Amino acid sequence: MPGDGIGPEIVAEALKVLERVAEIGGLELEIEQGLIGGAAHDAAGHPYPEATREQARRADAILLGAVGGPQYESLERDLRPERGLLGIRSDLELFANLRPAILYPQLASASTLKPEVVSGLDLLIVRELTGGIYFSQPRGIEQRDGQRYGYNTAGYTESEIERIARVGFEAAMKRNKRLCSVDKANVLEVSELWREVVERVGQEFPEVELSHMYVDNAAMQLVRDPKQFDVMVTSNMFGDILSDAAAMLTGSIGMLPSASLNSEGVGLYEPIHGSAPDIAGQGKANPMATVLSIAMMLRHSLNRNDLAERLEAAVGRVLDQGLRTPDIHGDGMQLVSTQGMGDALVAALDDA
Ligand code: NAD
Ligand code: IPM
Ligand code: MN
Repeated sequence: MPGDGIGPEIVAEALKVLERVAEIGGLELEIEQGLIGGAAHDAAGHPYPEATREQARRADAILLGAVGGPQYESLERDLRPERGLLGIRSDLELFANLRPAILYPQLASASTLKPEVVSGLDLLIVRELTGGIYFSQPRGIEQRDGQRYGYNTAGYTESEIERIARVGFEAAMKRNKRLCSVDKANVLEVSELWREVVERVGQEFPEVELSHMYVDNAAMQLVRDPKQFDVMVTSNMFGDILSDAAAMLTGSIGMLPSASLNSEGVGLYEPIHGSAPDIAGQGKANPMATVLSIAMMLRHSLNRNDLAERLEAAVGRVLDQGLRTPDIHGDGMQLVSTQGMGDALVAALDDA
């Protein structure tokens, strides 16, 4: 589902890479194209049309580019591209959003932070994706005391917190066994419950060192000393914001992939960035985040860790060759287009 803006450009490159990696690995894939976001609204009158819903429901895995753009901002709220993305996440109950922020050593100088602050960075943000302030009722804009009043509700049930906490602990068990739960429990009741439930789930994981941090401090700590973190687990909106900040630690938002999983193992894979209308159609978009999302797809939905590793190694080799899209470009590097980067990745897959 390519979506809008740079979505079609980056998905085209990612599909080239996927097809080659599948060929190498003897993986048989049946690939369908689906409409989502503004593109779906243009073609079918809705950002998440029924036909797309049916495709999504029969897929083992979904690759999504990005949605949104200025031309859609005046649409009524329910028809806006972003509603399509929220719709598919909610429809498939993709509550567990994994956003790994890994610094490729070749990009240490592309980060706006000092190389010693970010070198060796490998952190995982586990973001709750189908609840919290994005979805809770009531919400709306209405007349109150002679003026308009806009409101949302930031609610979580115990079971919603429990299941995302468990994903956080399980991820930590496979890594360095440190989990930091990020909330705003000094102010919000929903966070008070969050913290209590995370503590309770933690009792099932005595080996994991659990800590709690307020989100404002977490934002500061991510920039001050990001390597203190192993896994962070947090609510929908806090995770949205912190993961964009974490992306910049890796050199560019164009480097950060994500996996959104439900309890049946179906996954939606997408870069964490948006449709980047400012560079759409110019061949400037970095397709790496989308390509790395394919690696996550191979790992989490297609059970081919071997091919995921091969793909990630190919990304490393292309960076070694000095090829860079504009977002990560620097002295002595070779500037390439979105397509040039895709071609280089395909070629690097064969070098393994
Ligand atoms: P954005 O992530 O699209 O862009 C932010 C900045 O990062 C821009 O300067 C853009 O050029 C740059 N950028 C993003 N991806 C890049 C890439 N792959 N390579 C190089 N540079 C890249 O965020 P925004 O500008 O706030 O939002 C634009 C639109 O995208 C909005 O309609 C928003 O709702 C939507 N959006 C969609 C998603 C999604 O589909 N998952 C995520 C975020 C924003
Ligand atoms: C993301 C995006 C989306 C979100 C928007 C476009 C609905 O910012 O995937 O991070 O807020 O989840
Ligand atoms: Mn976001």
